[in-house]
Amino acid sequence: MAKLIYAPIASLDGYIEDEQGRFEWAAPDDEVMAFVNDLVRPIGIHLYGRRMYETMVYWETADTGGDQPALNREWAGIWRAAEKIVYSRTLQTVSSARTRIERDLDPDAIRRIKETSASDIAIGGAELAGQAIAAGLVDELHLLLAPILIGGGKRALPGNIRTELELVDEGRFRNGAVHLHYLCKPA
Ligand SMILES: NC(=O)c1ccc[n+]([C@@H]2O[C@H](COP(=O)([O-])OP(=O)(O)OC[C@H]3O[C@@H](n4cnc5c(N)ncnc54)[C@H](OP(=O)(O)O)[C@@H]3O)[C@@H](O)[C@H]2O)c1
Repeated sequence: MAKLIYAPIASLDGYIEDEQGRFEWAAPDDEVMAFVNDLVRPIGIHLYGRRMYETMVYWETADTGGDQPALNREWAGIWRAAEKIVYSRTLQTVSSARTRIERDLDPDAIRRIKETSASDIAIGGAELAGQAIAAGLVDELHLLLAPILIGGGKRALPGNIRTELELVDEGRFRNGAVHLHYLCKPA
């Protein structure tokens, strides 16, 4: 069965965007970007909240000419190759290939995708992923914590839920970011 993975880049105090909606402080350097590319390369399907999709769809048409950084070109290729499901009650059309819209996060439908997908599945942003964590659908967390406190904003992880986690790996990057890899224990 495929695993559902949530892998946000967050501030050390746990936010994916600050109170102004900014997240440039989370931009990965080359070492973190190479790590993210390796993490996401095997993912066959991305489940996106509408807001995260609107951020990521940039990569559908991003310049991948030879003058662009190799890691960006690699990421664009990884992103374009994957299937995407966008969760939204408002979005009318999508502007990327291999992409469809769902109007509700139906746990049974997600379980069916996990049963039938040949490769692992990723979920983001935080609002959508929080619902999936609360529904017990998320199998693994890869938290990439940037070395910054931003004091407030949108939380990477949902409040008001209790889930035990098993730490299976951790790592550090030269820029001070850390990676924490947890398995979500079944309820
Ligand atoms: N830290 C980083 O490295 C990083 C990187 C990229 C982006 N970001 C930030 O992260 C943000 C995205 O995360 P987010 O948590 O704000 O939003 P999100 O989860 O990506 O999207 C929220 C939207 O998804 C739809 N949705 C949520 N639950 C749904 C459900 N059960 N059924 C149907 N549709 C559902 C709704 O869209 P509708 O309103 O259309 O119904 C909702 O407004 C971006 O906007 C950006 O600011 C951070």
